[in-house]
Amino acid sequence: MDYFLTSPDCDTISKTYNGQIDSHLIQKTNDGYREILPNLPRGKGWMTEHLVQYQGVWLTPNFALKGLMWVQDHFKPRSTDICLATFPKTGTTWLKALTFATVNRTRYGFADHPLLTTVPHGCLPFLEACPNDLDGFPSPRLLSTHFPYTLLPNSMTVNQSCRFVYICRDPKDVLVSKWLFMNKLRPKELAPISLEEAFELFCQGISHYGPYWDHVLGYWKASLETPEKVLFLKYEELKEEPSVVVKRLGEFLGHPFSLEEVSKGVVEEIMKLCSFENLSNLEVNKSSVLKLSTQIIIDNRHFFRKGKVGDGKSYLTDEMIKRINEITSEKLLGSGLVFGS
Ligand code: A3P
Repeated sequence: MDYFLTSPDCDTISKTYNGQIDSHLIQKTNDGYREILPNLPRGKGWMTEHLVQYQGVWLTPNFALKGLMWVQDHFKPRSTDICLATFPKTGTTWLKALTFATVNRTRYGFADHPLLTTVPHGCLPFLEACPNDLDGFPSPRLLSTHFPYTLLPNSMTVNQSCRFVYICRDPKDVLVSKWLFMNKLRPKELAPISLEEAFELFCQGISHYGPYWDHVLGYWKASLETPEKVLFLKYEELKEEPSVVVKRLGEFLGHPFSLEEVSKGVVEEIMKLCSFENLSNLEVNKSSVLKLSTQIIIDNRHFFRKGKVGDGKSYLTDEMIKRINEITSEKLLGSGLVFGS
């Protein structure tokens, strides 16, 4: 099987580049990283001690920033690449599963599907983790990233112009999902982040890959300008009408569902395979881990909590809801994009 099973180690860029890219180029990227890091503004971290702000975006210094420099310096996009882009906690796991299952539906049977034994994040490479074997992947490659559209190199968005599938979600649900998730991952020596603090950080934009609203708007605008290149989805729409969205996804990916497939229930099979109920109850997703680097090892079960729309509101005070709704209206004003109340 040639789907992406191993998670490479991005702790030291040179390790992952070993044997793949000229050592002088590796050195240049490492030097660039070391040079810019001390001068970047710092903000409080959710999982790590702090985040750094690079070109207006908040990133983990030791993982996302390094990954970004790798992407900017060394990633060779192909026009056939399909990149799943998300802000953390907006439905990445679900989107990865649905896309992987849709693209590979004639390849794997539903009874012995890779998604039954591999967490969706293990099925496709994550650009931030500096995957070192991408050049050997056959086209079309399925990739994933949390990077905002504005940080991606022109080679991905203009010249070679990959296709992107983006999913967004109501910011209140994103905030609460993220707060609960990050506290599970936060090292024991750091005190847990309170909801009040998480709320303030999120509203100020100090959040991995944030500000959230800028992230969403970057892909939203790109989807309006080049709809054939960027498919923009909402978690809430996927919940409401999964079969409609899965069919749109198939079409966009160049794998439209035939009438025969539809009548045979292939769309429903994919939805069932990728459902929260199914994935969250699989042994691999209850007991295994995802290793993103030697420092970032995540229990797969943390990717599955409730999977509900509107759950964030049951954690937030009326005042918090009002404030986040106001920020959202202000930020999205004139964009044509709206979230529920
Ligand atoms: P909640 O914390 O609100 O339950 P991400 O995958 O981007 O990390 O997002 C995680 C959120 O998606 C979590 O939301 C999680 O429960 C939900 N989720 C994970 N898998 C899902 C699935 N198959 N269907 C619907 N929601 C899912």
